[in-house]
Amino acid sequence: EKGGYDHFMLKEIYEQPKAIMDTYRGRLLADKGIIKMAGIDQNLEKFLNANRIIIVACGTSWHAGLVAEYIFEDMARIPVEVEYASEFRYRNPVITENDVLIAISQSGETADTLAAIKLAKERGAFVFGVCNVVGSSIARETHAGAYTHAGPEIGVASTKAFTTQITVLTLIALKLAQEKGTLSQSKYQEFLAELEAVPTKVEKALLSNTLVEGISETYKDSSNCLYLGRGYNFPVALEGALKLKEISYIHAEGYPAAEMKHGPIALIDEQMPVVVIATKKGHYEKVVSNIQEIKSRKGRIIAVVTEGDETVKELADHVIEVPDTSESLSPLLTTIPLQLLSYHIAVMRGCNVDQPRNLAKSVTVE
Ligand code: M6R
Repeated sequence: EKGGYDHFMLKEIYEQPKAIMDTYRGRLLADKGIIKMAGIDQNLEKFLNANRIIIVACGTSWHAGLVAEYIFEDMARIPVEVEYASEFRYRNPVITENDVLIAISQSGETADTLAAIKLAKERGAFVFGVCNVVGSSIARETHAGAYTHAGPEIGVASTKAFTTQITVLTLIALKLAQEKGTLSQSKYQEFLAELEAVPTKVEKALLSNTLVEGISETYKDSSNCLYLGRGYNFPVALEGALKLKEISYIHAEGYPAAEMKHGPIALIDEQMPVVVIATKKGHYEKVVSNIQEIKSRKGRIIAVVTEGDETVKELADHVIEVPDTSESLSPLLTTIPLQLLSYHIAVMRGCNVDQPRNLAKSVTVE
């Protein structure tokens, strides 16, 4: 059942190239320049007339929502707010009939996300679901939706659900961008081709496994870890930190790299591993200067870089390469080594990787 892997989590990490491909298959017709998604096609006016999109989710799905905020605003020029479902439902939010709410949930059973949907529906918003489990409560409760085709995710730590959620949300953003004319035709075509190439690139990113295992050995006894990223990779930093804390029980925090000097930099000393996402596209020079700041305070730097990077190699204690892609698709690649890092560290610490203490796969009570 684990297909030869020691844990479901590792199996699911390795399933990502296929899961991403299954998620865009039949929807992304790159050579024709078309994105076909019934749930969007049938409700196009709702999306095109939306004042804003509100995304609600919890945990990893919320991180996918944050990535989507960057993609939707960048490509389709639609204002987006991303909310923790639990906060949204209890704070008397301003919702109008011109709002579109997107609920993201792997299980489709998360209590807070379901309650947020009911509230938004009561107030007249159009509600769209991005779920993995077919026929789940959230899939049924929403007006329309698009499934991720990740296949069953058994490990409590969400991995392939995250990357397939980003895939679906990218498809939606590209489709709306095309409809609205907010992307040039050539840029649009370029993104379609880039997205189609992602599974092969994820395969390559997975080749870092042995290297990451070695790095894990060095840091497995740490009691803290910082994760930094900017732009599209800020949510990836949050997600990397969540993975580490939930399965290895090491305290970890994700931050936008520039926020470091507003507090967290005080934590940095030779005991502190700092994972920095420093890919070439997207604020690269700024991240490099963040890395220099960490180095001068003797922090230990584990950097995720674009293949062939030379600058960061000089500065960081460890570099993990991922293939080049556009900034907006880079989370699909940069997240891979971070999943592997948390996995190996947890295994080395003797933790129950697939069923971490105190956690349930779906949080059906608030
Ligand atoms: O099923 P959902 O996507 O609604 O679940 C949301 C969170 O409970 C979930 O992502 C949780 O944070 C994971 N354990 C993270 O790995």
